[in-house]
Amino acid sequence: MQRVFSGIQPSGIPTLGNYLGAIRNWVALQAAHECLYCVVDLHAITTWQDPATLQRQTRELAAAIIACGVDPDRHILFHQSAVPAHVRLAWIFNCVARIGWLNRMTQFKDKAGKDRENASAGLYVYPDLMAADILAYHATRVPVGDDQRQHLELANDIAQKFNHDYESAFFPMIEPLIMPEAARVMSLRDGTKKMSKSDPSDQSRINLSDDTDAIVAKIRKAKTDAEPLPSEPQGLEGRAEARNLVGIYAALAGTTPASVLAEYGGQGFAGFKIALAELTVTKLAPIAAETKRLLAEPGHIDRVLFAGAARAEAIADPIVAEAERLVGFLQRPAK
Ligand code: AMP
Ligand code: TRP
Repeated sequence: MQRVFSGIQPSGIPTLGNYLGAIRNWVALQAAHECLYCVVDLHAITTWQDPATLQRQTRELAAAIIACGVDPDRHILFHQSAVPAHVRLAWIFNCVARIGWLNRMTQFKDKAGKDRENASAGLYVYPDLMAADILAYHATRVPVGDDQRQHLELANDIAQKFNHDYESAFFPMIEPLIMPEAARVMSLRDGTKKMSKSDPSDQSRINLSDDTDAIVAKIRKAKTDAEPLPSEPQGLEGRAEARNLVGIYAALAGTTPASVLAEYGGQGFAGFKIALAELTVTKLAPIAAETKRLLAEPGHIDRVLFAGAARAEAIADPIVAEAERLVGFLQRPAK
């Protein structure tokens, strides 16, 4: 059975974009794979996080992932900082990856912005840690949104260079699983920007914890244009906001934009937005309720995460120990 690994940062409240672009696929993969899902708190602190908020968001994200349908008993859900193997392997990868490779990473350029000199060194080597996350488990299938494709290509470059430099075939190649429909959910305020949990405007996104009133209000106020909905997907060309809302509807309903437009084409946005809000509430309300229930039981989520971490460690430790042996580090003597 192939091993799946994926991660998500606890740097905000998870959004509808995280659900449709990532977590929903994580749930589906459980049927035929051995899955490890990680709340990547080490990645989160590459940009400053308020400590109390980081703690709260780590728990909230884990609870939301379980509420969406990830099964922490049959699969493994844990937080990255609890398994030191990630950091051990990341250091080796810092020494394998080339500065020129990291310089090409578009996410670093976007996140560092104009003030590159002032970005953390961690933000720069972020992709090395991400490669370590995956390869510490010899995982080969990695579901992510389209924005992470470049990082996975870099992980394969690192695996290949490690294998070459240390004359081994130790690390396998990774296969990105980029989910096509709704691979990018866009902001409700600007159809050219990704919906993001770190966007300063809460109106730009639907949070998995939003209540019915918030969801209805955000969709009602979502940016659109003056034309009615087209009757075919080609008519969405150049209409980023309309395309986004139709895409969200199709993804939530488990259908295609074409069939959404077959029903709503020719109508104005008012009626469509009411239908979209209803559909969104139907899908997200049970997730929000279950998240709340899981968080209400003191200590429950922490116990789930640390139990997951112990099982993750049992897989990663021997793999990282072997990488360390290949590099030339002394091996712990047998007792
Ligand atoms: P992040 O929120 O950047 O930590 O991303 C966590 C996961 O959710 C990654 O696999 C992203 O590609 C995915 N993701 C984040 N935002 C979106 C979005 N607006 N649309 C689709 N996928 C997303
Ligand atoms: N960088 C990913 C993101 O921002 C999160 C992540 C960290 C990840 N480690 C990973 C995703 C390993 C897949 C596999 O979305």
